[in-house]
Amino acid sequence: MTKEKVLLIGASGFTGQRVLQKLIAQGADVTCFLRKSSIKPTIESGHYKVAYGNLDDIESLKAALQQVDGVIYAASLGFGHAPLVVKACEESRIQKAVFTSTTAILTQLNAPSKKVRSQAEKCIQSSKIPHWTIIRPTMIYGLKGDRNMERLVRFIQKSPLVIIPGSGQALQQPNHVDDVATALVQAYQSPNTQNKFYNISGQNPLTFREVIQTIAQQLHKNVHVVSLPLKPVWMLLKFYEKLFKNPKFKAEQVLRLNENKAFDHSEAKKDFSYSPITFKKGIEILIQDIERHKNG
Ligand SMILES: NC(=O)c1ccc[n+]([C@@H]2O[C@H](COP(=O)([O-])OP(=O)(O)OC[C@H]3O[C@@H](n4cnc5c(N)ncnc54)[C@H](OP(=O)(O)O)[C@@H]3O)[C@@H](O)[C@H]2O)c1
Repeated sequence: MTKEKVLLIGASGFTGQRVLQKLIAQGADVTCFLRKSSIKPTIESGHYKVAYGNLDDIESLKAALQQVDGVIYAASLGFGHAPLVVKACEESRIQKAVFTSTTAILTQLNAPSKKVRSQAEKCIQSSKIPHWTIIRPTMIYGLKGDRNMERLVRFIQKSPLVIIPGSGQALQQPNHVDDVATALVQAYQSPNTQNKFYNISGQNPLTFREVIQTIAQQLHKNVHVVSLPLKPVWMLLKFYEKLFKNPKFKAEQVLRLNENKAFDHSEAKKDFSYSPITFKKGIEILIQDIERHKNG
């Protein structure tokens, strides 16, 4: 992507930082859209520009868009920013924009952000941006700070017993963050992705029990998995939610855990050579990264 001028929105985020590294490694001219409060991404080699602004502020978006050819959006579509971002792209005559959504919009559950995310996708799809693409990853994990698998790895490191609500047979297909970042860059570069959306996922689906066993194997630990009946756990959590203003666990989370979350990524493979790693490999990388940070 020689000297393509890209605005990266969400560059300070978990996924955005990996996208930034990949763009810089490819020689792109990157401007990061950051809030004044954002922690600036640390990149060992190469440079990027910064445009300060806020997704609530269309003028700051338009000012940032003046300097670029296209956009990679790695922030959330769950906070209602899509109409403003799309409008800013249209008014700035942006030719190409790749947006990160989530497979969570396909949930059968009544998740709070489902409506706003679905509306965001519709807004992008009906936009006048000549080449828009939507990438919907499954759960993203794979480096320290992933907010998903790191917690489970740390728990299994300490505990020989894992208690799970439900059977643990529901399928998951988590995405390694580097695969998601590569997908965003490849989707941006490929002419095949014009006005299309893609589900992306890890190499193979696994049950939650297999997720736990894979982590245990990679940690060289033996774990015993005990499952509790789903309904009483759900009812207890509902009660617990009523007692606390900011509950640590929500009843909906246990239902989501028991919902199948396996998604086919063959369209992404066909159109931009999406080729994710196995969960086993992803966990190996995550454990190494946790260790590296422990040792400074
Ligand atoms: N994490 C997952 O498991 C997962 C699963 C599926 C899909 N996704 C999707 O993947 C994308 C990346 O997720 P992530 O977990 O890597 O994100 P993240 O770490 O939460 O990062 C969010 C980014 O958005 C920026 N941002 C938020 N509000 C902003 C505002 N008002 N103005 C400007 N910037 C703002 C943040 O900037 P600050 O640094 O200033 O806060 C940060 O750079 C999102 O679209 C998410 O919905 C995530």
